[in-house]
Amino acid sequence: MMKILLILIATACCLSAEISSDVVDKDKTLTKIAFGACNKPSRKKVTRIYDGVLKHNPDVFVFLGDNIYGDTEDMELLKKRYQQLAAAKGYQKLQKQTQVLATWDDHDYGVNDGAKDYPKREQSQQVFLDFFAEPEDSVRRTRPGIHTSYSFGKDGKKVQIILLDTRYFRDKLEYSKTKNKPSKTKNKPSKGKVGWYEPTKDTSMTLLGDAQWQWLEQQLQVKADVRIIASSIQMLAYEKGMENWGNVPHEQQRLFEMLKKHKANHTVVISGDVHYTELSKVMIGDYPLYDMTSSGMTHCSKNWANADNSLRVGKSHWEINAGLIEIDWAKKSLSLCSINQDGKKLIEHPVAFSELEFSK
Ligand SMILES: [Fe+2]
Repeated sequence: MMKILLILIATACCLSAEISSDVVDKDKTLTKIAFGACNKPSRKKVTRIYDGVLKHNPDVFVFLGDNIYGDTEDMELLKKRYQQLAAAKGYQKLQKQTQVLATWDDHDYGVNDGAKDYPKREQSQQVFLDFFAEPEDSVRRTRPGIHTSYSFGKDGKKVQIILLDTRYFRDKLEYSKTKNKPSKTKNKPSKGKVGWYEPTKDTSMTLLGDAQWQWLEQQLQVKADVRIIASSIQMLAYEKGMENWGNVPHEQQRLFEMLKKHKANHTVVISGDVHYTELSKVMIGDYPLYDMTSSGMTHCSKNWANADNSLRVGKSHWEINAGLIEIDWAKKSLSLCSINQDGKKLIEHPVAFSELEFSK
């Protein structure tokens, strides 16, 4: 009898335990979230984009990956390249004036277009976490991969930021049969396509891996008034053959279905990687999912910016840029933006919270 009672109490406790983000800071309300990607600290222009960002006084800045160009299996060299970022005056100013969050992409992970077969992924994770001063007791130090989540603010003004890891668990993508491998097609788009991957039909292929998928499904059930999913690679734009979620369509679909299943209202995506900025939108039933891509804190590509993207909203820009989400809590709306080195807006797309709701 006593045993049954204990089981019932334990079950009740489990059911009532609210799922939370990995890090919770109820005292900080966010109205401006800045982000950026593709940052080569050795480039001379490195400080200017930070000036543009800091003009907007963001509450947090999210590094979306390719935060440095490591591209090595030598961990001492990787650490040295992180030190170039530490030495950049703009980065130092950013750190002083706002909170920095980060995930990685291929170049800081350690290898161009890298996947789970990169042999130094465990060591690289430690170098990354040490550089970004991840606390010793952080959950990120206890599991493979650097995915994590944050909740800021109190009920009614709660922002959740989910940082995905699109490298540690990912299978190798399929090369396009009609195009050559990257080294032969680099910077030479043809008919609006850059190169070199195509969507797979192999549904055993994964982008996030089982453990991260289970964690993500939990995270999508965390209460949030605005939810931002940060993916190093583009989630929506799929036609140009670069790395993106569209190369693993069943995983992209899985995420869309998950958002729908949990009615993850007020969710937007941010991404980097491609060396230009653009906004993309796809309808999941009646829900408009936006992906605000900002890439090129130090270098951009006009060719890539001109590649096909039928989901693009407005124009692409190949000026050096950072991203910005502004939230107007009084009006219940947010604005998806990208800015240049002067802080001037290149893209500004306001969306009311009421538009970002799953009806069924
Ligand atoms: Fe990348």
